[in-house]
Amino acid sequence: MQEQLSSLLAKASKEFQAIRSRPELESAKARYVGPHGELTAVMKQIASVPREERPALGKVVNESKARLQGLLDGALQRIEDAELAAKLGPPIDPTLPSTDGGPGTFHPLTLVREELCRILRKVGFTVADGPEVETEFYCFDALNTPPEHPARDPQDTFYFPQSARFANVSKRVPDERYLLRTHTSSVQVRTMLKGPPPIRIISPGRAYRRDTTDASHSANFHQIECLYVDRNVTVRDLKALLDYLFEALLGPGTKTRFRPHYFGYTEPSFEVDLSARHLPKVRKEWIEIGGCGLVDPEVFKSVGYDPQTWTGYAFGMGIERLAMTLYGIDDIRIFYQNDMRFLKQFAWGV
Ligand code: DAH
Repeated sequence: MQEQLSSLLAKASKEFQAIRSRPELESAKARYVGPHGELTAVMKQIASVPREERPALGKVVNESKARLQGLLDGALQRIEDAELAAKLGPPIDPTLPSTDGGPGTFHPLTLVREELCRILRKVGFTVADGPEVETEFYCFDALNTPPEHPARDPQDTFYFPQSARFANVSKRVPDERYLLRTHTSSVQVRTMLKGPPPIRIISPGRAYRRDTTDASHSANFHQIECLYVDRNVTVRDLKALLDYLFEALLGPGTKTRFRPHYFGYTEPSFEVDLSARHLPKVRKEWIEIGGCGLVDPEVFKSVGYDPQTWTGYAFGMGIERLAMTLYGIDDIRIFYQNDMRFLKQFAWGV
């Protein structure tokens, strides 16, 4: 019987090594120590052994039983260890540097956009919004930009097919075309059609043009638009606001100048240049930053304002260009590449 027991133990210890799961453990238990188990069967034989041999044999059987239990406990321990390891995942070394990306930062274009809004809110402007998909009326016609104007050329502008529908973008005329707005000036029209003057809004947002991408051009870029409508508004008011804005954004010593230009929606119209030689990496004395002027009476007529009563100024400028000047960035493409080495350098909060 002793031999029987030791071969049973050898077999069990080999089998138990292979146990990987709780169901396997339960079935092994049943095979050895269950009511019909192999060890149970051996134990039952004790009854048929002569009385005087029983104590010695009983001892051996008990020892074998204890060893078998030990093997089962070992198998259970291995299962529990494996379950815990699976829950914990791969081992970590807490002394290594963190792989955490840190608290994150705002994109430089977001920082400049928010700073522009903050500066202009201080002097009474509120932020207005308009859709990036526009119609020709809001983008061009209402802004006194006739059909033969170059900005309306499909070479310059992303038009949608006639079949395209945008339920949230209202049309003025049923058959006018949808396009990606070429400038944020369309928000001027949408705002004026919502109610009477006085109006004092800014509107930052994306604009789209068929520009070939290079260091200073991108087919999708950002502008900030401004519209002020009230009585007796003059070029002086416009110049004073831009002087204040650029000095607040770029620091003392920043200068602004106007150059006569043509825009359909302003009369007179100017291009705006700024000078900020105190900033590092600014190589040119004057940097062209946007357009502006006094709102053309034709624009007022197209939104139903009386041009005899109302006057106003407007400007629009590129947020990328301002951010490049402020931070000394020399390639517009880097704004859109999501390179963390670039993005992490902009930490000031908004
Ligand atoms: N919309 C012009 C552009 O994208 C910029 C501009 C010029 C905006 C004159 C204005 C303005 O509001 O009055 O180049």
